Amino acid sequence: MDSSIADRTSSRSEERRHALDLLLGRRSAGVLEDPAPFGPDLDLILDLGLRAADHGRLRPWRFVLIRGEARAAFADRLVAAARRRDPAAPQALLDRYRAWPLRTPLLIGVGAAIRANHAIPESEQLLSAGAAAMNMLNAIHLLGYAGMWVTGANAYDAGINASLGFEPPSRLVGFLAVGTARTVAAVDRPSRADHVVEWDGSGGTA
Ligand SMILES: Cc1cc2nc3c(=O)[nH]c(=O)nc-3n(C[C@H](O)[C@H](O)[C@H](O)COP(=O)(O)O)c2cc1C
Repeated sequence: MDSSIADRTSSRSEERRHALDLLLGRRSAGVLEDPAPFGPDLDLILDLGLRAADHGRLRPWRFVLIRGEARAAFADRLVAAARRRDPAAPQALLDRYRAWPLRTPLLIGVGAAIRANHAIPESEQLLSAGAAAMNMLNAIHLLGYAGMWVTGANAYDAGINASLGFEPPSRLVGFLAVGTARTVAAVDRPSRADHVVEWDGSGGTA
């Protein structure tokens, strides 16, 4: 190989390894502050979501941005939904639900527009929305922001789903809370040995 091509190839490979090293450092952050990504950074994050694997090219991904003033209205919806689920819901829980969107710079409701009775099973359509969420978390991290995938009772609440445009069988797969991490904690990486086996062809493991 021409030495300049070899140099370019090896520097590209280093860049790619560096990007993967950065991804190994991704971690979720529950305590977020401004700034949240916006403009070209947010566009890039959303575009990465739209590069998720997608069986049958159904493109089930739907992302709902909740930010700025809209967060207060969304907080009201969370509180109303919690009261509907449990009229005796303790005030402390309602206060937590109200505070969460208000202190989160950007929420992305990630959902799947599900096609029922399709050759591609609903579970695969949901998995594709989940893959989009993960792609976005990785992009958020690579751009120097932080995020966390959150579900909880509200993500499964029919009223909250409907208020974000998800009528059954379509549904949320969760929210990405996005902003900038106040503190960066060390990453606890699982051991490969606990999760990976080599199949030996006999039905057992080696
Ligand atoms: C589908 C899904 C839903 C989640 N829901 C919550 C949640 O409601 N509350 C929470 O504290 N963590 C939730 N998590 C876990 C966090 O997003 C995060 O992955 C976890 O705290 C581990 O941190 P790490 O991503 O840095 O390893 C959820 C994760 C997934 C994949």
